[in-house]
Amino acid sequence: MLGKQFQSSAISQCRVCWRLYQATPGQMQTRQFRVAVIGAVGGIGQPLSLLLMANKLVTELVLHDLTATKGFGQDLSHIDRACQVKSFFGEDQMKSAIKGSDIVMITAGMPRKPGQTRDFLFDTNAPIVAKAAGLVSQHAAHAMVGIITNPVNAVVAVAAEAMKKAGYYDPDRLFGVTTLDVVRAEKFIGDHMSIHPGKVRIPVIGGHAGTTIVPIFSQCQPPFEGDEKCIASIVKRIQTGGDEVVKAKAGQGSATLSMAYAAARFTNALMLGLKGEPGPPECAYVQSDATEAPFFSTPLTLGPKGIEENHGLPELDECEKEQLKVAVDALKKSAAKGVKFME
Ligand SMILES: NC(=O)c1ccc[n+]([C@@H]2O[C@H](COP(=O)([O-])OP(=O)(O)OC[C@H]3O[C@@H](n4cnc5c(N)ncnc54)[C@H](O)[C@@H]3O)[C@@H](O)[C@H]2O)c1
Repeated sequence: MLGKQFQSSAISQCRVCWRLYQATPGQMQTRQFRVAVIGAVGGIGQPLSLLLMANKLVTELVLHDLTATKGFGQDLSHIDRACQVKSFFGEDQMKSAIKGSDIVMITAGMPRKPGQTRDFLFDTNAPIVAKAAGLVSQHAAHAMVGIITNPVNAVVAVAAEAMKKAGYYDPDRLFGVTTLDVVRAEKFIGDHMSIHPGKVRIPVIGGHAGTTIVPIFSQCQPPFEGDEKCIASIVKRIQTGGDEVVKAKAGQGSATLSMAYAAARFTNALMLGLKGEPGPPECAYVQSDATEAPFFSTPLTLGPKGIEENHGLPELDECEKEQLKVAVDALKKSAAKGVKFME
């Protein structure tokens, strides 16, 4: 059933989504979206804002960071797009940035240094995410919220609790952004099979850290060509792709450009959903009853109210079932950590 959704018509639809970036002014849409980027001056925030600026569905781009965003906003505002740019900075202005937004992408917070796990970032980043999520609940209750800030596995639970405390929480509108794991899977598989990575569709379920990232090779379209050893080595590379970049950057942060690309793809999918023209399912880390973990990433169809359909667990082979068990145990602990922090 799910396999079909990852087949060729879905792939071509997906490519159509990406062609939106090349749309001409004459093709302006009727529905307009205000998208706020929190942490807009950061390594991810800047390229993400640029990619959103180039997306014709974004007609108001709101930049927020602790540090000044004005110059950066001025720079973006010279790009020949109809999109208007608004710049806010500092703790006090986060509310104004978020208010009235259709989508809030949170990328504010510390990235990893070599040798650090994502979990190491929790103490610094959890309060940042809690604050932003609480403000969304109070001032943009119907916004879709994408959480890029690490550790995604725990801070999405923090965001959910913060929203409950602030008075409004809709689990269908809160997403941990795991798209980079999918993008990496498509790229590594495409390169291995000597096909364009854009033609690969594979659900990557679970969470966003090490062995909680579970790529479902048995559901890959086109079917994966390679033996078990080969699958194991690509799975390992997808799970440690972030470490590869952290190591190569040697203290200068973690993945930023590939992450911005992935976040722009997910934001585009959210906007297509809001328009009622959903693309193919995208995986994201959401409140879920697919497993015993309270938050879990599975393929989702997105709609005007957020999650239109959670496709749940795809069919798994025996090896994937084992990987799932490991992921679920770890994800239960991560979610509990997030909830405890907010108590
Ligand atoms: N989800 C994923 O797949 C994924 C991938 C890579 C990185 N990340 C995470 O994304 C986060 C950002 O990474 P980066 O490389 O852009 O880091 P960065 O340090 O380059 O940028 C972070 C930005 O957040 C800002 N910031 C900090 N506190 C803030 C606050 N209270 N309000 C507003 N802005 C605030 C900083 O001023 C900075 O500009 C990190 O936590 C990183 O681990 C997630």
